[in-house]
Amino acid sequence: MIQNMWYGILDAREVKAGKPVGVTRLGEKLVLWRDDQGKVACIYDQCCHRGAAMSHGWVKHNHVVCPFHGFEYDTSGKVKLIPANGRSSKVLEQYHVQSFHVEERYGIIWIWYGEKRDAYPEILFFKELREGFSYGQFSEVWPVHYTRAIENQLDVVHLPFVHTNSIGRGNRTLVHGPVVIWEDHLMTFFVKNEVDDGNTIPLKASEIPDYRDLFSLQFQMPNLWQNIISDDIRIVAVFAPIDDEHTQIYIRFYQRFMKVPILKELVNFTSRFTNRYILHQDRRVVITQIPKKSELRMGEHLIPGDAPIMEYRKRREQLKNGVNW
Ligand code: FES
Ligand SMILES: [Fe+2]
Repeated sequence: MIQNMWYGILDAREVKAGKPVGVTRLGEKLVLWRDDQGKVACIYDQCCHRGAAMSHGWVKHNHVVCPFHGFEYDTSGKVKLIPANGRSSKVLEQYHVQSFHVEERYGIIWIWYGEKRDAYPEILFFKELREGFSYGQFSEVWPVHYTRAIENQLDVVHLPFVHTNSIGRGNRTLVHGPVVIWEDHLMTFFVKNEVDDGNTIPLKASEIPDYRDLFSLQFQMPNLWQNIISDDIRIVAVFAPIDDEHTQIYIRFYQRFMKVPILKELVNFTSRFTNRYILHQDRRVVITQIPKKSELRMGEHLIPGDAPIMEYRKRREQLKNGVNW
């Protein structure tokens, strides 16, 4: 994992008022709940008493209560009450578990993975989607490391093979470029694929001066992607790492062309079926990839069309090594 970054880990609606929820994210067992003000808290989901999961317990005011012997934890992970010791007994410092800094923004729960700070950097969600759009969503778990799931969405070469009857229709197997541009931790890549007439040599990225007019997609480090279908329609994916072999993928269809309430919901709901169909075409192949986790240097022979994947791997490696930008 890259340290000191915000990771989208859950749809905010998964954390309901009055009920703790247990998930594994970034290889950690976590319990999340909402305090009296509705603010989301997150601590390690293993009771310091005898190891039960607090996520199977309940919420009491701002605290989460372990279902085994009733230890009450506050949002910082400290035990505030040990019922068997009596309300009048002071709880010692060692009764605590690790807490995690989380924020709820844009309908997503974000976790800060790294050292605690007084002030945290901005959450880098796609600027134009921050308001004015509505969305429909579906989510599923893939049995792959999150890097493989991400790279699949950066792969402009696979379209005519994996999506023959959907988004890859038309046999456009020849890949020009692609052009990859970074702005901070946001990668934009521009796609120009065409049918191979047997004579055309693919253009290098530097040979495509009008690339800004091309179809483009974006990837925001460390785990957000968007397909810019048009000004008013986007598909966004959040790749929430579960552990080394599993990823929870949230796919959202964002639109702002339909604003009439019921029709809007219908459009957003219907989008799920198409997106699920396309994603399952990908999944069929991606789960077969070996090795499970991608690395900058491994025994793969990439081609020029894999530029966005190569760029992602390089950036990830630099960030893992603590290079500042
Ligand atoms: S295991 Fe949680 S209170 Fe005993
Ligand atoms: Fe695909």
